[in-house]
Amino acid sequence: MDTSTRPLALVSGGSSGIGHELAAELARRGYDVAISGSSERVFEAADRLRELGAEAYPHQADLATYEGVEGFWSFVAGLGRPVNVACLNVGIGVGGAFADTDLDDELRMIAINCAGTVHLAKRVVRAMLADGAGDRRILVVSSTSATTPTPYEPVYGPTKAFGFSFAESIREELREHGIVVTALLPGATDSDFHANAGMGDTVFGDNSWKNDRTEVARQGIEALLAGDDHVVGGDAATKQQVVDNRATSEPEKARRQGELARPGG
Ligand SMILES: NC(=O)c1ccc[n+]([C@@H]2O[C@H](COP(=O)([O-])OP(=O)(O)OC[C@H]3O[C@@H](n4cnc5c(N)ncnc54)[C@H](OP(=O)(O)O)[C@@H]3O)[C@@H](O)[C@H]2O)c1
Repeated sequence: MDTSTRPLALVSGGSSGIGHELAAELARRGYDVAISGSSERVFEAADRLRELGAEAYPHQADLATYEGVEGFWSFVAGLGRPVNVACLNVGIGVGGAFADTDLDDELRMIAINCAGTVHLAKRVVRAMLADGAGDRRILVVSSTSATTPTPYEPVYGPTKAFGFSFAESIREELREHGIVVTALLPGATDSDFHANAGMGDTVFGDNSWKNDRTEVARQGIEALLAGDDHVVGGDAATKQQVVDNRATSEPEKARRQGELARPGG
Protein backbone atom coordinates (compact mmCIF):
# COMPACT_ATOMS: atom_id res chain seq x y z
CA MET A 1 0.00 0.00 0.00
CA ASP A 2 1.25 3.52 -0.67
CA THR A 3 0.45 6.51 1.53
CA SER A 4 -2.52 7.53 -0.58
CA THR A 5 -4.34 4.29 0.19
CA ARG A 6 -3.11 3.44 3.68
CA PRO A 7 -5.38 4.55 6.53
CA LEU A 8 -3.99 7.08 9.02
CA ALA A 9 -3.78 6.70 12.80
CA LEU A 10 -2.66 9.18 15.44
CA VAL A 11 -1.15 8.14 18.75
CA SER A 12 -0.48 10.71 21.48
CA GLY A 13 2.56 9.73 23.54
CA GLY A 14 3.64 7.43 20.73
CA SER A 15 7.38 7.84 21.24
CA SER A 16 7.80 5.19 23.95
CA GLY A 17 6.03 2.71 26.21
CA ILE A 18 2.52 1.47 25.47
CA GLY A 19 1.87 4.30 22.99
CA HIS A 20 4.83 3.32 20.85
CA GLU A 21 3.64 -0.29 20.82
CA LEU A 22 0.14 0.86 19.81
CA ALA A 23 1.71 2.77 16.91
CA ALA A 24 3.86 -0.25 15.97
CA GLU A 25 0.84 -2.59 16.06
CA LEU A 26 -1.07 -0.21 13.80
CA ALA A 27 1.93 0.13 11.46
CA ARG A 28 2.13 -3.66 11.16
CA ARG A 29 -1.58 -3.69 10.31
CA GLY A 30 -1.09 -1.26 7.42
CA TYR A 31 -1.69 2.14 9.00
CA ASP A 32 0.47 5.22 8.63
CA VAL A 33 0.97 6.84 12.01
CA ALA A 34 1.26 10.38 13.38
CA ILE A 35 2.83 10.32 16.84
CA SER A 36 3.54 12.88 19.52
CA GLY A 37 6.16 12.91 22.24
CA SER A 38 7.51 15.44 24.68
CA SER A 39 11.15 14.93 23.76
CA GLU A 40 13.30 14.54 20.67
CA ARG A 41 13.09 10.78 20.92
CA VAL A 42 9.79 11.05 19.02
CA PHE A 43 11.89 11.40 15.85
CA GLU A 44 13.81 8.14 16.49
CA ALA A 45 10.50 6.46 17.30
CA ALA A 46 9.21 7.51 13.88
CA ASP A 47 12.29 5.94 12.25
CA ARG A 48 11.47 2.63 13.98
CA LEU A 49 7.88 2.79 12.71
CA ARG A 50 9.12 3.42 9.14
CA GLU A 51 11.12 0.20 9.40
CA LEU A 52 7.75 -1.55 9.83
CA GLY A 53 6.65 -0.21 6.44
CA ALA A 54 4.55 2.73 7.63
CA GLU A 55 4.89 6.39 6.85
CA ALA A 56 5.41 7.99 10.25
CA TYR A 57 4.83 11.64 11.14
CA PRO A 58 6.51 12.69 14.42
CA HIS A 59 5.55 15.81 16.35
CA GLN A 60 7.26 17.12 19.49
CA ALA A 61 4.94 18.99 21.86
CA ASP A 62 4.10 19.38 25.52
CA LEU A 63 0.59 17.95 25.78
CA ALA A 64 0.20 19.44 29.27
CA THR A 65 -0.58 22.75 27.56
CA TYR A 66 -3.53 23.89 25.44
CA GLU A 67 -1.10 25.09 22.76
CA GLY A 68 0.71 21.75 22.77
CA VAL A 69 -2.47 19.74 22.17
CA GLU A 70 -3.76 22.21 19.58
CA GLY A 71 -0.35 22.13 17.87
CA PHE A 72 -0.39 18.33 17.62
CA TRP A 73 -3.89 18.39 16.19
CA SER A 74 -2.96 21.14 13.65
CA PHE A 75 0.04 19.04 12.64
CA VAL A 76 -2.19 15.98 12.04
CA ALA A 77 -4.92 17.98 10.29
CA GLY A 78 -2.23 19.56 8.12
CA LEU A 79 -1.40 16.15 6.66
CA GLY A 80 -4.63 16.56 4.69
CA ARG A 81 -5.76 12.99 5.28
CA PRO A 82 -8.74 11.70 7.24
CA VAL A 83 -7.90 10.23 10.65
CA ASN A 84 -9.15 6.66 10.75
CA VAL A 85 -7.87 5.72 14.19
CA ALA A 86 -7.03 7.98 17.14
CA CYS A 87 -5.28 6.56 20.20
CA LEU A 88 -5.60 9.02 23.09
CA ASN A 89 -2.79 7.44 25.01
CA VAL A 90 -0.58 10.06 26.61
CA GLY A 91 -0.66 10.01 30.37
CA ILE A 92 1.63 10.45 33.35
CA GLY A 93 1.53 9.41 37.01
CA VAL A 94 2.47 11.09 40.28
CA GLY A 95 3.34 8.76 43.15
CA GLY A 96 3.47 9.55 46.86
CA ALA A 97 1.23 10.42 49.78
CA PHE A 98 -1.18 13.24 49.01
CA ALA A 99 0.12 15.27 51.96
CA ASP A 100 3.61 15.17 50.42
CA THR A 101 3.10 15.37 46.65
CA ASP A 102 3.56 18.62 44.79
CA LEU A 103 0.34 20.38 43.78
CA ASP A 104 1.82 21.62 40.51
CA ASP A 105 2.78 18.05 39.55
CA GLU A 106 -0.76 16.88 40.17
CA LEU A 107 -2.34 19.79 38.29
CA ARG A 108 -0.01 19.05 35.37
CA MET A 109 -1.07 15.40 35.46
CA ILE A 110 -4.75 16.42 35.39
CA ALA A 111 -3.94 18.71 32.44
CA ILE A 112 -2.38 15.84 30.47
CA ASN A 113 -4.61 12.92 31.52
CA CYS A 114 -7.99 14.69 31.66
CA ALA A 115 -8.01 18.11 29.97
CA GLY A 116 -5.66 17.00 27.19
CA THR A 117 -7.70 13.88 26.48
CA VAL A 118 -10.92 15.90 26.23
CA HIS A 119 -9.21 18.53 24.04
CA LEU A 120 -7.77 16.04 21.54
CA ALA A 121 -10.99 13.99 21.55
CA LYS A 122 -12.99 17.13 20.69
CA ARG A 123 -10.83 17.80 17.61
CA VAL A 124 -10.82 14.14 16.55
CA VAL A 125 -14.57 13.60 16.96
CA ARG A 126 -15.52 16.76 15.08
CA ALA A 127 -13.12 15.87 12.24
CA MET A 128 -14.40 12.29 12.05
CA LEU A 129 -18.01 13.51 11.92
CA ALA A 130 -17.13 16.07 9.23
CA ASP A 131 -15.41 13.38 7.12
CA GLY A 132 -18.71 11.57 7.19
CA ALA A 133 -17.57 8.22 5.85
CA GLY A 134 -15.20 5.35 6.36
CA ASP A 135 -13.97 3.31 9.27
CA ARG A 136 -13.42 5.57 12.30
CA ARG A 137 -12.21 4.38 15.71
CA ILE A 138 -10.98 6.01 18.93
CA LEU A 139 -8.98 4.23 21.65
CA VAL A 140 -8.83 5.90 25.07
CA VAL A 141 -6.02 4.54 27.24
CA SER A 142 -7.31 4.31 30.80
CA SER A 143 -5.99 1.84 33.40
CA THR A 144 -7.05 -0.92 35.77
CA SER A 145 -6.55 1.92 38.29
CA ALA A 146 -9.95 3.12 37.08
CA THR A 147 -11.49 0.18 38.98
CA THR A 148 -9.95 0.78 42.42
CA PRO A 149 -8.99 3.60 44.78
CA THR A 150 -5.27 4.34 44.33
CA PRO A 151 -3.63 5.40 47.63
CA TYR A 152 -0.11 6.77 47.15
CA GLU A 153 -1.17 7.74 43.62
CA PRO A 154 -4.37 9.37 44.90
CA VAL A 155 -4.97 11.68 41.94
CA TYR A 156 -3.69 9.38 39.19
CA GLY A 157 -6.39 6.71 39.63
CA PRO A 158 -9.21 9.26 39.44
CA THR A 159 -7.77 10.67 36.19
CA LYS A 160 -7.93 7.16 34.72
CA ALA A 161 -11.49 6.61 36.03
CA PHE A 162 -12.31 9.86 34.22
CA GLY A 163 -10.91 8.46 30.97
CA PHE A 164 -12.81 5.18 31.29
CA SER A 165 -16.16 6.87 31.97
CA PHE A 166 -15.51 9.46 29.25
CA ALA A 167 -14.79 6.72 26.70
CA GLU A 168 -17.91 4.73 27.57
CA SER A 169 -19.99 7.94 27.41
CA ILE A 170 -18.89 9.19 24.01
CA ARG A 171 -19.01 5.62 22.72
CA GLU A 172 -22.77 5.64 23.27
CA GLU A 173 -23.18 9.06 21.61
CA LEU A 174 -21.05 8.18 18.58
CA ARG A 175 -22.51 4.73 18.01
CA GLU A 176 -25.24 6.07 15.70
CA HIS A 177 -22.55 7.82 13.64
CA GLY A 178 -20.60 4.60 13.12
CA ILE A 179 -17.62 5.75 15.19
CA VAL A 180 -16.28 3.08 17.56
CA VAL A 181 -14.84 4.12 20.94
CA THR A 182 -12.91 1.61 23.06
CA ALA A 183 -11.20 1.99 26.43
CA LEU A 184 -7.95 0.12 27.09
CA LEU A 185 -7.34 -0.60 30.78
CA PRO A 186 -3.76 -1.84 31.10
CA GLY A 187 -2.60 -3.42 34.32
CA ALA A 188 0.91 -2.62 35.52
CA THR A 189 3.00 -2.67 32.34
CA ASP A 190 6.75 -2.55 31.65
CA SER A 191 7.58 1.02 30.59
CA ASP A 192 9.19 4.17 32.00
CA PHE A 193 5.85 5.12 33.55
CA HIS A 194 6.42 4.27 37.24
CA ALA A 195 10.00 5.56 37.23
CA ASN A 196 8.75 8.84 35.73
CA ALA A 197 6.02 8.92 38.40
CA GLY A 198 8.65 8.81 41.16
CA MET A 199 7.59 5.30 42.21
CA GLY A 200 10.96 3.58 41.86
CA ASP A 201 10.98 2.66 45.58
CA THR A 202 7.61 0.88 45.48
CA VAL A 203 6.56 -2.58 44.30
CA PHE A 204 5.95 -0.90 40.93
CA GLY A 205 9.62 0.14 40.69
CA ASP A 206 10.55 -3.30 39.33
CA ASN A 207 9.48 -3.83 35.71
CA SER A 208 10.29 -7.56 35.66
CA TRP A 209 6.90 -8.78 36.96
CA LYS A 210 4.74 -6.42 34.92
CA ASN A 211 2.74 -7.03 31.77
CA ASP A 212 4.51 -6.91 28.42
CA ARG A 213 3.72 -3.60 26.71
CA THR A 214 3.70 -5.16 23.23
CA GLU A 215 1.03 -7.65 24.33
CA VAL A 216 -0.99 -4.94 26.11
CA ALA A 217 -0.95 -2.82 22.95
CA ARG A 218 -1.88 -5.78 20.76
CA GLN A 219 -4.89 -6.50 22.98
CA GLY A 220 -5.92 -2.84 22.82
CA ILE A 221 -5.81 -2.65 19.03
CA GLU A 222 -7.59 -6.00 18.67
CA ALA A 223 -10.42 -4.81 20.92
CA LEU A 224 -10.61 -1.51 19.04
CA LEU A 225 -10.87 -3.23 15.66
CA ALA A 226 -13.40 -5.73 17.07
CA GLY A 227 -15.54 -2.82 18.30
CA ASP A 228 -15.43 -3.80 21.98
CA ASP A 229 -16.34 -1.16 24.57
CA HIS A 230 -13.29 -1.89 26.72
CA VAL A 231 -10.52 -4.37 27.28
CA VAL A 232 -8.28 -5.04 30.25
CA GLY A 233 -4.73 -5.13 28.91
CA GLY A 234 -2.47 -7.79 30.33
CA ASP A 235 -2.25 -11.41 31.44
CA ALA A 236 -5.00 -13.61 32.89
CA ALA A 237 -4.23 -12.52 36.47
CA THR A 238 -4.60 -8.86 35.46
CA LYS A 239 -7.97 -9.53 33.85
CA GLN A 240 -9.13 -11.55 36.89
CA GLN A 241 -8.10 -8.67 39.17
CA VAL A 242 -10.54 -6.36 37.44
CA VAL A 243 -13.32 -8.97 37.71
CA ASP A 244 -12.55 -9.29 41.43
CA ASN A 245 -12.46 -5.49 41.83
CA ARG A 246 -16.11 -5.31 40.78
CA ALA A 247 -17.05 -7.49 43.78
CA THR A 248 -14.67 -5.98 46.35
CA SER A 249 -15.44 -3.05 48.66
CA GLU A 250 -13.66 0.24 48.05
CA PRO A 251 -11.92 0.27 51.49
CA GLU A 252 -10.62 -3.26 50.94
CA LYS A 253 -9.29 -2.42 47.48
CA ALA A 254 -7.75 0.78 48.87
CA ARG A 255 -5.91 -1.19 51.57
CA ARG A 256 -4.54 -3.69 49.05
CA GLN A 257 -3.54 -1.04 46.51
CA GLY A 258 -1.95 1.09 49.22
CA GLU A 259 0.38 -1.75 50.20
CA LEU A 260 1.65 -1.98 46.63
CA ALA A 261 2.12 1.74 45.99
CA ARG A 262 3.38 2.83 49.43
CA PRO A 263 6.88 4.39 49.14
CA GLY A 264 9.54 2.06 50.53
CA GLY A 265 7.16 -0.89 50.04
N1 LIG B 1 2.78 1.53 32.43
C1 LIG B 1 1.75 1.18 33.18
O1 LIG B 1 1.89 0.40 34.16
C2 LIG B 1 0.38 1.67 32.84
C3 LIG B 1 -0.73 1.01 33.42
C4 LIG B 1 -2.00 1.45 33.13
C5 LIG B 1 -2.20 2.52 32.29
N2 LIG B 1 -1.12 3.15 31.74
C6 LIG B 1 -1.40 4.29 30.84
O2 LIG B 1 -0.81 4.05 29.59
C7 LIG B 1 -0.51 5.30 28.97
C8 LIG B 1 0.92 5.25 28.46
O3 LIG B 1 1.79 5.04 29.57
P1 LIG B 1 3.23 4.37 29.43
O4 LIG B 1 3.34 3.33 30.45
O5 LIG B 1 3.49 4.02 28.02
O6 LIG B 1 4.14 5.61 29.87
P2 LIG B 1 5.59 6.08 29.38
O7 LIG B 1 6.43 4.90 29.06
O8 LIG B 1 6.05 7.00 30.46
O9 LIG B 1 5.32 6.87 28.00
C9 LIG B 1 4.75 8.12 28.03
C10 LIG B 1 4.65 8.72 26.63
O10 LIG B 1 3.99 9.96 26.78
C11 LIG B 1 4.85 11.01 26.34
N3 LIG B 1 4.69 12.15 27.24
C12 LIG B 1 4.88 12.22 28.57
N4 LIG B 1 4.62 13.46 29.01
C13 LIG B 1 4.27 14.18 27.92
C14 LIG B 1 3.91 15.52 27.71
N5 LIG B 1 3.84 16.43 28.70
N6 LIG B 1 3.62 15.93 26.46
C15 LIG B 1 3.70 15.06 25.43
N7 LIG B 1 4.02 13.78 25.56
C16 LIG B 1 4.31 13.35 26.80
C17 LIG B 1 6.24 10.46 26.37
O11 LIG B 1 7.03 11.21 25.47
P3 LIG B 1 8.67 11.24 25.61
O12 LIG B 1 9.09 9.84 25.33
O13 LIG B 1 9.13 12.18 24.58
O14 LIG B 1 8.93 11.69 27.00
C18 LIG B 1 5.98 9.02 25.96
O15 LIG B 1 5.80 8.94 24.56
C19 LIG B 1 -0.77 6.38 30.03
O16 LIG B 1 -2.01 6.98 29.76
C20 LIG B 1 -0.84 5.60 31.33
O17 LIG B 1 -1.66 6.23 32.27
C21 LIG B 1 0.15 2.75 31.99
